[in-house]
Amino acid sequence: MCASISGFSKLSKSKKIDWIVETYFSNTEDAKRILKQYWNTNDKLQQLHDEFIENTITNYYLPLGVAPNFLINGKIYTIPMAIEESSVVAAASKAAKFWMDRGGFKTKVISTTKIGQVHFMYYGNIENLKNYFNHIKSRLIDDAKPITKNMEKRGGGIVDIELRNKTQDIKGYYQLHASFETLDAMGANFINSCLEQFAKTFKNEALNFEGFSEQEKNIQVVMSILSNYVPDCLVHAEVSCKVEDLNEDKNISAEEFATKFVQAVNIAEVEPYRAVTHNKGIMNGIDAVVLATGNDFRAVEAGVHAYASRNGKYSSLSHTKIEDGIFTFWMEIPLALGTIGGLTGLHPLVKLSLELLHHPTAKELMQIVAVAGLAQNFAALRSLTTTGIQEGHMKMHLMNILNQFGATETEKATLTDHFKTNLVTHTAVVEAIKDLRFKKND
Ligand code: HMG
Repeated sequence: MCASISGFSKLSKSKKIDWIVETYFSNTEDAKRILKQYWNTNDKLQQLHDEFIENTITNYYLPLGVAPNFLINGKIYTIPMAIEESSVVAAASKAAKFWMDRGGFKTKVISTTKIGQVHFMYYGNIENLKNYFNHIKSRLIDDAKPITKNMEKRGGGIVDIELRNKTQDIKGYYQLHASFETLDAMGANFINSCLEQFAKTFKNEALNFEGFSEQEKNIQVVMSILSNYVPDCLVHAEVSCKVEDLNEDKNISAEEFATKFVQAVNIAEVEPYRAVTHNKGIMNGIDAVVLATGNDFRAVEAGVHAYASRNGKYSSLSHTKIEDGIFTFWMEIPLALGTIGGLTGLHPLVKLSLELLHHPTAKELMQIVAVAGLAQNFAALRSLTTTGIQEGHMKMHLMNILNQFGATETEKATLTDHFKTNLVTHTAVVEAIKDLRFKKND
C-alpha cells in the first residue's frame, strides 16, 4: 500500500507506531512486539535515545566489540569498535597482537585545520571585491568574537579567511574560504555559526562600502557551510619491521609474504576497482571506532574518499615499501574528530568507549582511529595474499549462518567443533546442519 500522512512528526511515539504498523504490516501485533523488544526498560535511557533523532520508534542495535593489544607510540590500548560485520574485530585484534611483538604502531598528527566556506555570487569588478574583502576581513573576525571567544581562550578559533575567485567554474561565483582550529571539538556547529556570521557581516557591510557601485553592493550569499574535506587535518600511522620478522605463516616465507604484500598495495595504488575495496577494508576499522566514539562516520567517509582521489584518480590510502631489508607499511588520512561535544557527552556507551581509550584528546583519537584502519588493512591483505579472505571471514561468520538456521545451543556447540577442522562455506554449514538434524531424527 502507498500511504502518506500529514502531521506525523506531531504524533506521540505510540501513535506513530500505530500508524506505521497499521499502514505497512499485516501482523500488527508482531511488528509492535519487534519494535518494543528493543526499547530500554530504563525510561530515562530510552528517552535519551528517543531524543537523539526525530520520529524515533525504537532502537537499532549494533554490537560493540573490543580489540585489545594495540601498542601505539609505546602505550597499550584496547580499542572499542561498533560494527555489524563479522571478522573485523577479530582481524583488528590479530593485527594488533602481531605488531605488538614488532614494535607496535607509530603515529603522528600532521595538521589539524578544518575548512568552511561562504559561497556567494558577485557580478561586479573583481578589484573592487578584493578591496572590499581586505577592508572587511578584520570586521568579519571581530563580529564572530561572541562565537569564537571561548574557543580562543582554549587556543583555537579562526585561523584565516581568504577570498577565492571561482568564476572560471561558475560565472559570478566566489567564496570566503575560512580555516579553523577547533581543538577537541569536531567543530561543525562552531564552524557553521562562524560562517553564518561572516555571511551576514559580508553582505550587510557591502551596502555601505564606498568602493562599490550600487549594483556591486548586492552580494548574494548562496550558502555558508563547513567542508567535510579536510586534507589539512591529517594523521600518519605506520608499522615497520625487518622483513625476516614478518615470518609467522609456515606456508609462506617472510620474503615471499613481504613481496606479495607490497604487490597487493601497489595494485591498489594504480587500479581504482581494487583501491575501492582495499580502502573499504581500511574503513572497516575506521568507521567502527568512529561510531563507538560518537563521531560522524558519514563526514569521515566523505572526507577520506575525497582524499583518496586527490590526485585525480581514486587510489589506495595506504602505502608500503621494502628498503634495506625493512618492511614499512603506512597511511596518511584526513580525520576530523571530536572528543567533546556532540554525542560524546551524551551517549553512555560513547562515554564508556572514550574512558576505555583513557579520555583521548581529538589528536589522540585521530591516531587511534588511523591505527585501527591500518591494522584492518594489514589483516585483510595478509589473508588475501596467503590463505584467501574466505577462510578467516567464514570462520567468524559461522555463528551468523547457524543463527539464520535457528540452530540450538547444542547444535551450535557440535558444529563449531566440527568446523574447527573443516572449511566453513555457506553450503558446508547448511549441509552440516541438515546432517545433524537428520541424524537426530533418525
Ligand atoms: P586465525 O589465525 O584463524 O585466528 O585468524 P586464531 O584463532 O589463530 O587467533 C589469532 C588471533 O586472532 C587471536 O588471538 C585474536 O587476536 C584474533 P588471541 O585472542 O587468541 O590471543 N581472533 C579473534 N578475536 C576475537 N574473536 C575471535 C577471534 N579469532 C581470532 N573469534 C582471522 C582469523 C579472522 C582473525 C583472520 O583470518 C583475519 O584476520 N582475516 C581477515 C578478516 C578481515 O579482513 N575481515 C574484514 C571483512 S572482509 C572485508 O570487508 C574487507 C576486504 O574486502 C578488504 C580488502 O579486500 O582489502 C577483505
